[in-house]
Amino acid sequence: MRENTMIAYILFTVLAILPLFIYLRNPYFLGDLRYAVTAIRIGMRMGKIKKNFSSLLDCFLDRAKKHPEKTFLIFEESSYTYSQADRESNKVARALSTHAQLKEGDTAALFLGNEPQFVWLWLGLAKLGCVASLLNSNIRSKSLVHCFSCCEAKVLIAGADLRGAVEEVLPALREQGIRVFILSDHSDVEGIESLSDKLEKTCDEPLSPQLRANINLKTPALYIYTSGTTGLPKAAVVNHERVWMSSFLQAMVGVHSSDVLYLSLPLYHTSGFLMGLCGAIERGITVVLRRKFSVSNFWNDCRKHNVTAIQYIGEIIRYLCNTPKKDNDKDHKVRLALGNGIRSDTWVDFLQRFGNVRICECYGATESNVGFDTLSYTFKLLSNDLLFFIYHNNLPTSFQMSSPYALIRYDTEKEEPVRNSRGFCIEVPKGETGLLVGKIGQKTPFYGYAKNKQQTEKKKLRDVFEQGDLYFNSGDLLRIDEEGFVYFQDRIGDTFRWKGENVATTEVADHLLTVDFIEEANVYGVKVPGHEGRIGMAALKLKENTDFDGTAIYQHVKNYLPSYARPRFLRIQDAVAVTGTFKQLKAKLAEEGFDPAVIQDPLFFLEDGKGYVPMTQEILTAITEGTLKL
Ligand SMILES: *[C@@H]1O[C@H](CO)[C@@H](O)[C@H](O)[C@H]1NC(C)=O
Ligand SMILES: *[C@@H]1O[C@H](CO)[C@@H](O)[C@H](O)[C@H]1NC(C)=O
Repeated sequence: MRENTMIAYILFTVLAILPLFIYLRNPYFLGDLRYAVTAIRIGMRMGKIKKNFSSLLDCFLDRAKKHPEKTFLIFEESSYTYSQADRESNKVARALSTHAQLKEGDTAALFLGNEPQFVWLWLGLAKLGCVASLLNSNIRSKSLVHCFSCCEAKVLIAGADLRGAVEEVLPALREQGIRVFILSDHSDVEGIESLSDKLEKTCDEPLSPQLRANINLKTPALYIYTSGTTGLPKAAVVNHERVWMSSFLQAMVGVHSSDVLYLSLPLYHTSGFLMGLCGAIERGITVVLRRKFSVSNFWNDCRKHNVTAIQYIGEIIRYLCNTPKKDNDKDHKVRLALGNGIRSDTWVDFLQRFGNVRICECYGATESNVGFDTLSYTFKLLSNDLLFFIYHNNLPTSFQMSSPYALIRYDTEKEEPVRNSRGFCIEVPKGETGLLVGKIGQKTPFYGYAKNKQQTEKKKLRDVFEQGDLYFNSGDLLRIDEEGFVYFQDRIGDTFRWKGENVATTEVADHLLTVDFIEEANVYGVKVPGHEGRIGMAALKLKENTDFDGTAIYQHVKNYLPSYARPRFLRIQDAVAVTGTFKQLKAKLAEEGFDPAVIQDPLFFLEDGKGYVPMTQEILTAITEGTLKL
């Protein structure tokens, strides 16, 4: 009897201490366990989808059937239920089928900003089994034509506010025999057809699933443009499997059906569209959609609509932290923030300022075959990456602890991976910064870019650890600490990020080279104190016997480049610096920055609305003190 009590007592003590023991060994144990369970459930669901294909559209239709009256989308003063969204997209599908003869397998390009029509158009196209190509609504002229052309779309559908941009490229589109529709009631321009009036007159009855009977997991669902590493933007092919995998991200981080998501990121990007919108459909939740992020309306919107989850990029969090403190800063229901690019100092600021919000920092690139879905806890101020998330993969099989990714040593001077005497790359030790590469294999394929074999090849890295192996080069420098927390450090090579957009340096350079007195242009991003990312700068070599004309360059960049891609600083050099292999040197120039006291070359600054003016110490001071907004 006594013995039994004793044993029970010991057992009880062990059981009581066990959680503490596990906690001390691994303070993230419970979170990791919850995460693992969720991942296995998602894996099982993906398994079912693989056996009996259904698309995210089917998931949407299912939601519309189960809770037709639930609010799906709130935009400005309007709100739409799941059922309304379903009917609106039926109209789109019918109208496009009748007036544009779109059918399964065709591609249509969408060129509009964040608005409900964006969502109806995409759903409508999906109902016809068509592929939607999501054009960045900031691009113009040559870039617009290029982006449009690389996805072989038959139709362009543009927002009413982008009529001017469409008219500018209309001759090029007509040459290719493209049908152009605009979301307005009438159009008196030859070659542009109105769409809104046609939608108005179309019936909203459901369409037969037979229209999309040949779609499967590997069929392209979307084209999303990325700046890649060189040249003009490239269309990354997003197939149905990829749409599903990205949409599970919200489930992974614990979004549930009663949540309300605040979405102010552009829908033409992966994060806004796949993680935000598609994720919300997968969860069956309400989305508060904003045309654009607005720092002054952010918290008021969240309060007004009882928002519980927000989506961010690092810049958004920083803008919010930079506003003057208010008494009601903590007065909101936001419990979760998901996104990427938050830096640890901003992270701390944000939590102190706005209260107990769980931040889920995720890392991944549109076309990448490797991604981290990093978990994070408010008590540990950085993200935990116990389990990584492979977009293209069936989750249970990717649970192998052997990692299909690696951080390799990178030479920032030569701008290439360091190779050892045998010609292989070198993995960096824990805590050191390295270039992220993801192994390309059957389970982690890299689908590459549409119609661009050369660019696809450029993203591949061969003979990394052994003869004949193949890796995806992410172009991002990361650091992983002893505990497995991942830190984003920087982006290398030919792109930089500014205001949440990727800028391809060669695209900017190509535009600069069309200015008649510029002989060579080397574009790179420079760091600015108090800002995320890098701002554009260009080192220029002028043609012989020509003079610098700041107004001409300004007019040119204003006409051809979105504001985030315009070089804010110009540096005039006698010769553009190149490496031994004639690659332009960027890292050194980027390091040197734009301090007129340090740089001897003539420097110019792009003043809003005015043009390029000589860079001065006063401008520099105003920038560093934050009185001059960039
Ligand atoms: C496949 O899914 C459809 C609907 O999504 C369902 O009607 C059908 O019964 C499923 N087939 C199998 C074999 O599970
Ligand atoms: C937000 O929540 C409050 C209290 O729970 C409720 O009274 C209000 O109606 C909700 N507002 C919306 C827009 O759902």
